[in-house]
Amino acid sequence: MTRKIIVTSALPYANAPIHIGHLVEYLQTDIWVRFQKACGNTCYYFCADDTHGTPVMIRARSEGITPEQLIRQMHDRHVSDFAGFGISFDNYYSTHSEENRILSERIYDGAKKAGSIIQKRIQQAYDQQEQMWLPDRYIKGTCPRCKAPDQYGDSCDACGAHYQPTDMINPVSAVSGNPPVLKESVHYFFRLGDYEGELKKLFKTGYVQKSVQNKLDEWFTAGLKDWDISRDGPYFGFKIPGEEDKYFYVWLDAPIGYMASCKNYCDQNGMDFEQVWNSGEYEIYHFIGKDIMYFHALFWPALLTSAGLRTPTKLFVHGFLTVNGQKMSKSKGTFIMAETYLKHLDPQYLRYYYASKLSGDVGDIELNTEDFINRVNSDLVGKLANLASRSGPMLTKKLDGRLGTPDEKGKALLKEMTAAKEAVMADYESLNFASAVRRIMALADICNQFVEQTQPWSTIKNDPEGTRTNLTTVLNAVKTLTIYLKPVLPTFAEKIERFLDIPPLTFADVETMLENKPIQDYIRLVERVEKEKVDAMIEESKQETSAPAETKQPQLEEPIEPECTIDDFVKVDLRIARISKAEKVEGADKLLALELDLGALKKNVFAGIAKAYKPEELVGRMVVCVANLKPRKMKFGLSEGMVCASGPGGENVFLLTVDSGATPGQRVH
Ligand code: MSP
Ligand code: ZN
Repeated sequence: MTRKIIVTSALPYANAPIHIGHLVEYLQTDIWVRFQKACGNTCYYFCADDTHGTPVMIRARSEGITPEQLIRQMHDRHVSDFAGFGISFDNYYSTHSEENRILSERIYDGAKKAGSIIQKRIQQAYDQQEQMWLPDRYIKGTCPRCKAPDQYGDSCDACGAHYQPTDMINPVSAVSGNPPVLKESVHYFFRLGDYEGELKKLFKTGYVQKSVQNKLDEWFTAGLKDWDISRDGPYFGFKIPGEEDKYFYVWLDAPIGYMASCKNYCDQNGMDFEQVWNSGEYEIYHFIGKDIMYFHALFWPALLTSAGLRTPTKLFVHGFLTVNGQKMSKSKGTFIMAETYLKHLDPQYLRYYYASKLSGDVGDIELNTEDFINRVNSDLVGKLANLASRSGPMLTKKLDGRLGTPDEKGKALLKEMTAAKEAVMADYESLNFASAVRRIMALADICNQFVEQTQPWSTIKNDPEGTRTNLTTVLNAVKTLTIYLKPVLPTFAEKIERFLDIPPLTFADVETMLENKPIQDYIRLVERVEKEKVDAMIEESKQETSAPAETKQPQLEEPIEPECTIDDFVKVDLRIARISKAEKVEGADKLLALELDLGALKKNVFAGIAKAYKPEELVGRMVVCVANLKPRKMKFGLSEGMVCASGPGGENVFLLTVDSGATPGQRVH
């Protein structure tokens, strides 16, 4: 019996392009969807851009465009990135759509009628200059625990502490740089706790993989808290019905975007959305990363339940990508955009490599660049493509391109190939692609041994018909291996189908024999990965900023700091000072300790000019000093000001000197 299945991947944020971390998920999903289709199941793959929220609003602002323009540009880029990797959505939509607005209102309304929406007065950080509310991520400051500067308002990257933005030392808005103020406002909350019983029932049905069940138990033990689902304007999102300046929090309407994408598809294809989504006729699966489990395991099914809608069948949660053992990093060039990858490398490599790593649990996925090159070259090129390239051209060039019939020995080999079908299918079904790939490569090894044993390149001279028989066996084995790998390597499969001159392969074709038929000219299947290209991709990724290509702003390598007004600038009190002493600093080869004479007072200052000036040449010179700089405790003592100097650094630093017509202490402008 064929199944009916709806599959989704998490909706990528519309504030940034797709990178190879995202692709773990979209490739995992795509492989599973292609597998379901190849089994003959009805399977729809829906996705969309996640367009609402503060980051989209701020990025649009900083680029001087509207959020609508930004999300349109990003939609185009996402669509083309996904197409480049062969990710085959049945519909790729947007959460900023009429369908999504209507469905969001409907679900909110349902939750409200169920009595699960309440109002609370809360205090939140507000940026008075920008006149906007600040999510925790938009507050920066010093970590209250380890004192690391420049940390986010919710957690510290240096020591891992979690805290409230109000606990931070010197918090500032990441948008304006000003200290935020606390302001009160009324927010809407969804009472998650109302659904504890229902959620527990759902989990008993196997809603998540076993390996993530523990996490859920932890959350239940911690207690289900009310969820803040509203945001005050300015906000890019859907207005809450009956409210003037309140919007649904992006995470309320984002998962509803799965439904909106499905509805949009149904409407275009004459299908009944209510029946498809809600009748239970379809299994519904969400593929997500482990970072967004809370939303999908708790909020989402609870919200659906509150509105009287069905809950999804199951979540498939995957881990995060690491590259060469670490988180993706801009400076190491491992934060690789999909676009950049496609400029340098064949997408089939990554599809194959990720498949060989994905086993269906939440463990992280490691991309080691050396292993990537080796594995692709040895498996994909060395074992698989080689099998076809050793047998195909010989048949087309020397044996007039006709298959014969395998003999008993060949049939025995092919039987071994087909016998693996159930196991390979079970691997795909359970998301253990790594196991499927291992099995398939073991079979490819056996086929290569067959070629070694039968030596077609030497038998062709004396025994063309015997050679035809063996090559027919090999090409039938190639056909079966291709079916097994087709969910992972659709382009490879298409080339084989063209070459063997057959209609698109499905799992049902594993048992059919290709014999006594013509084939077409051999097509090159896949090239070796060259290390130089991988290096070039990494090099280019080091240079990259994440601004959209079309609107890329001219950027300095070090971006210009937030504007300072003339009022800010005149706060800097510049005075003429005479250097009365200058000394090297023990243990700091860049610093000189200066004593500055400002007439009525003296200041001690540490200046990073030791590479450019000798102490003795400085004594007596008149310089310009920032006289009202807050004294700063340094490792070597207190620094009470700053001398004005500039230049790229090292030997090339130039003191601003005023050697005539100035007296110490005099103010300069
Ligand atoms: N917009 C939300 C999802 C809303 S779903 C209703 C979001 N977007 S995202 O762009 O940040 O991530 C999209 C998906 O990609 C998520 O499932 C996320 O876990 C996954 N990944 C993002 N970076 C990843 C890695 N570095 N590694 C593996 N998966 C990653 O979250
Ligand atoms: Zn810290």
